[in-house]
Amino acid sequence: MSSQAPIVIVGAGQAGVQIAESLRQEGYGGELLLVGEEAHPPYQRPPLSKKWLLEAGNPTSLAIRGADALVRRRIELKLEARVERVNRGAGVLELTGGERLRYARLALATGSLPRQLTVPGASLPGVLYLRGIADSAAISAAIRRCATESCPVVVIGGGFIGLEVAAGARKLGAEVTVLEGLPRLMSRVTAPIVSEAFERLHRAHGVRFVFNAQVTELRAPQACGTGAAAGPAAAGHVATVHTADGREFAAGCVVVGIGVAPDDRLAAAAGLACERGIIVDACSRTSDPGVVAAGDCTARRLPDGRLLRLESVQNAVEQGKSAAAALMGRERPFYATPWFWSDQFDVKLQMAGLSQGYDQVIVRGDVAKPAFSAFYLRTGRLIAVDSLNRISDHMLAKRLLDNDLSPTAEQIADTAFDLHSLIKQSA
Ligand code: NAI
Repeated sequence: MSSQAPIVIVGAGQAGVQIAESLRQEGYGGELLLVGEEAHPPYQRPPLSKKWLLEAGNPTSLAIRGADALVRRRIELKLEARVERVNRGAGVLELTGGERLRYARLALATGSLPRQLTVPGASLPGVLYLRGIADSAAISAAIRRCATESCPVVVIGGGFIGLEVAAGARKLGAEVTVLEGLPRLMSRVTAPIVSEAFERLHRAHGVRFVFNAQVTELRAPQACGTGAAAGPAAAGHVATVHTADGREFAAGCVVVGIGVAPDDRLAAAAGLACERGIIVDACSRTSDPGVVAAGDCTARRLPDGRLLRLESVQNAVEQGKSAAAALMGRERPFYATPWFWSDQFDVKLQMAGLSQGYDQVIVRGDVAKPAFSAFYLRTGRLIAVDSLNRISDHMLAKRLLDNDLSPTAEQIADTAFDLHSLIKQSA
């Protein structure tokens, strides 16, 4: 290790950029290197499953920061560089192609990887996953071909990615069938009343659903459509999806959104403590005092010993700030209420808090419209709120949760009751 060496951040996504910028804000004046394996400068991922599917623009419009912003802050960007190994003893990173980079201190922001379908035929051409700009462009092109050639799009997984892609595909005029392994949509994160509202919304726009679907095989025996050789009709291209109950679904392309896994491979190989992610504390410190980690690649150890994994922009930003502070020897724990969002057709879903473990759900607003919020309580305490087209409820929910304030079930259900009054009273 040398004091001349830079702080190196591995992973040039939302968390990586945040660590770099926050290091400058924390007063770090030394060399700073942000290493990313993709060709694009750091970009925002949320639009990739939303409007970017409909009208891919210039990738620079997705940039997290303008190119000159990084230059101004003297953040050196090294793109198309893949770190293969961290040698913590020597303070050296080994890159593909043999290049070696010294580091004084290290930050890992390696993100997550889409979970892979492991059935026969899962790697046929036309089976697509969404992670980066190129994936979004490939999915958008495949959906457009399906729409033109009247071949259905099959989406595997009725979670965030599956549903946002399904909505995009319908807007582009393709037939869509979603095969969800569980009995309802987004069941990992929402209550049945929210799942049902989204199922109704999608069905009203022509999306078909199959629940409890166990995909067993993807095949390419027959051509579908009459289009160009590169399209769904191409030999060897996926053409059908098969499920355990013997059903067969014609597919011009298959989009798989069955969750993500933290990319902790580098950290685990380097001997850092990992368990479903790189284990960090509330200050984003790993088991090595010289190494921090932030974003999707981490699992945060809570004071009660449980591990918390959050996959969100907010988590990447807030952990990035604490990681930078930790590199400067300061403690800046991240405890804020988690929030997430999803856009599907004309409905904005905004989630505040974590609903796991709820024992009561109280609805506020109009479920049929939909314009309502589901308030999740555990033993009478508010733990989370999902809002559908109720933006003011979402803002309020974050404040209630941040301040550990719980309305009663009656107050929640009564739309005439001003929930803001609880915040005013506590001030
Ligand atoms: P997810 O966890 O939200 O949903 C995966 C869905 O696939 C679940 O409903 C699950 O039951 C189902 N599933 C799992 N295995 C299956 C199988 N073999 N067959 C059929 N269904 C199966 O994960 P998703 O949608 O892949 O999104 C991944 C991550 O992407 C999110 O956790 C989030 O980090 C990010 N994301 C967030 C968005 C947002 O916040 N609006 C939008 C898009 C992505």
